[in-house]
Amino acid sequence: MKRILVTGGCGFIGTNFIRLLLEERDYEIINLDALTYAGNPENLAEFEGHPRYRFVKGRIEDQDLVGQLMEGVDAVVNFAAESHVDRSIKSAKPFITTNVLGTQVLLDAFRKAGSSGPFVHVSTDEVYGSLTKDAPPFREDDHLLPNSPYSASKASSDLLCRAAWKTFGLPVVITRCSNNYGPYQFPEKLIPLMIINCLQNRKLPIYGDGLNIRDWIYVKDHCRGVLAALEKAKPGAIYNFGGDCELTNLQVVETILEILGKGKELIEFVKDRPGHDRRYAMDSTLAKRELGWSPQEDFDSGIRRTVRWYLDNQDWWQRILSGQYRNYYQEHYGKAL
Ligand code: NAD
Ligand code: TYD
Repeated sequence: MKRILVTGGCGFIGTNFIRLLLEERDYEIINLDALTYAGNPENLAEFEGHPRYRFVKGRIEDQDLVGQLMEGVDAVVNFAAESHVDRSIKSAKPFITTNVLGTQVLLDAFRKAGSSGPFVHVSTDEVYGSLTKDAPPFREDDHLLPNSPYSASKASSDLLCRAAWKTFGLPVVITRCSNNYGPYQFPEKLIPLMIINCLQNRKLPIYGDGLNIRDWIYVKDHCRGVLAALEKAKPGAIYNFGGDCELTNLQVVETILEILGKGKELIEFVKDRPGHDRRYAMDSTLAKRELGWSPQEDFDSGIRRTVRWYLDNQDWWQRILSGQYRNYYQEHYGKAL
């Protein structure tokens, strides 16, 4: 049985990934998560006491803790990050601490422990920058041209991973994915924010003209890609994962309004995000060819499934909005967050 250190497992994608692993594999999982505002211990609460799952509260940049946890670990999947562009514009420092320094601490500990690997570093299409309307989708060998403090910190961590592979021969694999949506996404990102605002009859703030384009992928498809990278990738490889689904923000929001039977008067165009990337699109040919991976969920069914999840789990997001999920940690672990 393999022992996998998953970082950031209480966040959106990490939660979905750990659920997938526990359902479909017999790996032993250590979930290291700092439980920042975006990490929710409730997400995996039902697995407490599971013989193959252990949660450790801590930071990836904590060298001593990471050094201890890495002993006996075969592989790492690094999801832990500060992940929201708007927050990075307000304050870049936490992004540098976690995304850059934290990744290096993990790489150093991985090397010291002599783990067999791989070290899968989960990154984003945003490292490539912004595409013009007719440009071909991003490929793995495109230049890195990040435009936000968030994407610059992710690009930095990708380069540290590359350096670890080139300099020390560490079996590092980098995955870069487009915009995810699905269950457990923190309601600051476009899709959950719009669903929840819609359900509360609140305004739906669209930045600029609403014509910025993102490529949307259902979170489980991304998780299956990361799992394929963990099990099949060549050391040193980089893989793009995309949903083959380019939509303007306005199209996304109008779809949500339609599903929930609400009118367009809820839409409010607001001041644009500084440095707002116009378009992302991914060429996932390499992952399709080498990993046998392809996205399974189309947007039409994925967005309906997602809206259903937020309708069925109103307690989950209500507790986030009111900060109550923090009490859960206190009750279960006997100390405050
Ligand atoms: P998220 O913000 O929902 O979750 C991040 C998790 O990391 C949280 O549980 C948080 O508590 C934890 N964390 C933050 N700082 C930490 C630290 N210093 N030490 C330990 N844990 C820490 O993010 P997400 O959307 O699940 O994204 C996960 C990863 O996937 C990130 O690396 C992100 O860059 C990448 N990614 C996300 C998307 C997307 O659309 N959400 C797309 C491509 C790539
Ligand atoms: P977001 O979910 O923050 O992801 P990212 O910036 O990493 O792509 O935003 C997705 C798109 O939606 C992006 O073009 C910004 C836009 N957006 C809005 O128009 N309004 C909002 O309130 C938010 C959060 C995002």
